[in-house]
Amino acid sequence: MEQPHIEIARDSQDLAERMVQLFLSAAQDAVSSHGVFRTALSGGRTPERFLERLANTPEAHSLPWGGVHLFWVDERYVPSDSQASNYRLVAETLVRRIDIPQANVHQIPTESADMNAAARAYERVMRKVFGLEEGGIPQFDLIVLGMGSDGHTASLFPDSPALRCVDRLACVVRAGADLKFDRITLTKPVLLAARRLVVLVSGGEKARILEDVLTGEPDEMRYPIHMLRPVMERVTWLVDREAAGLVA
Ligand code: 6PG
Repeated sequence: MEQPHIEIARDSQDLAERMVQLFLSAAQDAVSSHGVFRTALSGGRTPERFLERLANTPEAHSLPWGGVHLFWVDERYVPSDSQASNYRLVAETLVRRIDIPQANVHQIPTESADMNAAARAYERVMRKVFGLEEGGIPQFDLIVLGMGSDGHTASLFPDSPALRCVDRLACVVRAGADLKFDRITLTKPVLLAARRLVVLVSGGEKARILEDVLTGEPDEMRYPIHMLRPVMERVTWLVDREAAGLVA
């Protein structure tokens, strides 16, 4: 495996600040090179500080948000105003505080009773925004991922059938004993097509899994984030010192 590119931040605040710089750099590069910046963000706890910092950063307000398209890596299948909603997290911390056109904010729909129809609808939006035919795979300029303590990323969990959902751009993940909510997630082919990926890992509780993931034998079913191994040169592991305790 290509050696992982790991950046160690002093603490969660420094992690957020460095993620802001990576985001701004990716956005400026993308807009300069092809006139648009298309990114997908994850939910969960870790990105919150980054999103809040981004909304407060002067440079962010000078970004050409009209040329930025915001997608979600995954979503819990809950109402948009639910405390569990990844859309709500990003909308409240970032979207409502920047001048991005609402038409450029592409939330994963969660109103329909038919989750598969919702996943197909999200795929149609991706194809439209990326100008793709059926079968094309969107090449995001930046995908921001987290990693769970079980080695999952997006909503691609260990031993999940969604890990084999590689003929779609978005797949349904059903709730189970260890998963409270049904979800919709981007799939492996979409993650692997991204120009750049950042994996945000924060907190001492992630130190063990980070060491296992970075030093263990390849095993995508056990550690879904291992799916990034073929594109490690495009991945930045942005971790804080607590999470890096066993690998630094
Ligand atoms: C979600 C996320 C998920 C998250 C990891 C890490 O919907 O929960 O997309 O993949 O990135 O579970 O979550 P934390 O940042 O809360 O540790």
